[in-house]
Amino acid sequence: MTKGEIVAGCLAPHPPHLVYAENPPQNEPTAEGGWEQLRWGYERLRESLSDIDYDVIVVLSPHWQTYIGTHFLGLPHFKNLSVDPVFPNLFRYNYDLDVDVDLAKQIHDKAEQAGLTVKMMTNPDFRVDYGTITTGHMFNPKWDKPMVVISSNRSSAYYSVDVMQEMMIELGKVTREAIIESGKKAVVIASNSLSHRHFTTESEVPEDMSKEHITSHAMHLWDMRIIDYMRSGQCQRIIDEMPEFTEQAIAESDGGAFSWLLSTLEVPDYPAILHGYGTIIGTGNAIVEWPVYKHKEGE
Ligand SMILES: [Fe+2]
Repeated sequence: MTKGEIVAGCLAPHPPHLVYAENPPQNEPTAEGGWEQLRWGYERLRESLSDIDYDVIVVLSPHWQTYIGTHFLGLPHFKNLSVDPVFPNLFRYNYDLDVDVDLAKQIHDKAEQAGLTVKMMTNPDFRVDYGTITTGHMFNPKWDKPMVVISSNRSSAYYSVDVMQEMMIELGKVTREAIIESGKKAVVIASNSLSHRHFTTESEVPEDMSKEHITSHAMHLWDMRIIDYMRSGQCQRIIDEMPEFTEQAIAESDGGAFSWLLSTLEVPDYPAILHGYGTIIGTGNAIVEWPVYKHKEGE
């Protein structure tokens, strides 16, 4: 059997504002645009991967929060209306997504063998979180590839960032092994922002870009530091500084997706491509690609 491979890894954040500003037919509210820097970044990411062949998108979302272990979507199809609990005025999205249940189960089984607590989610009425949907839409608006969707085990809230990271590094390793054994080609995606201190009020016109900026200089400095590490191939330093970054920048890396992603990519020492950076209600968001296809993979 042919060996599978991870063809690319991405950091692909999910503020619902991006979908709102795109005005796709699936979303009920309409916008006059906004957050173009990030939406152009997503365009560049899609363009960059348009010639790369892959079978499945594997995503870990911080907004599917599970307190007992890691869960995986475990049915082939999910269709429903997703409403953002914080921004119902911006995001009421009719989703229709396919799941690669075989690969999900393979990752689940390997994680279980490695001693992690895991569960397949097989409730047909389960409502998929908006993080998965926003990243899914912005990465692949046609929704023409199946996904593996992995929950965020809240071990950073229950224990500490260090405990979370240790578990996510293990989950990343087994995710990688399962993909290679599956014979499939996968893109792996962490759906999270960087600094995550946000404004507590919304401007009258949500897409009024004259109101959009980073919440503080300290948040900006942290974002630029992490971006510099990604662009210069120093991902081990990100892993090393993850506890400080997560705590000081209130970063959305607390959900584990970022640590998991770097682990699936074996902590890259080659430069990532920054496709875009911008703020959304004051949070820092980077769209980043690790072009594994340019490097030897699956050996
Ligand atoms: Fe979020």
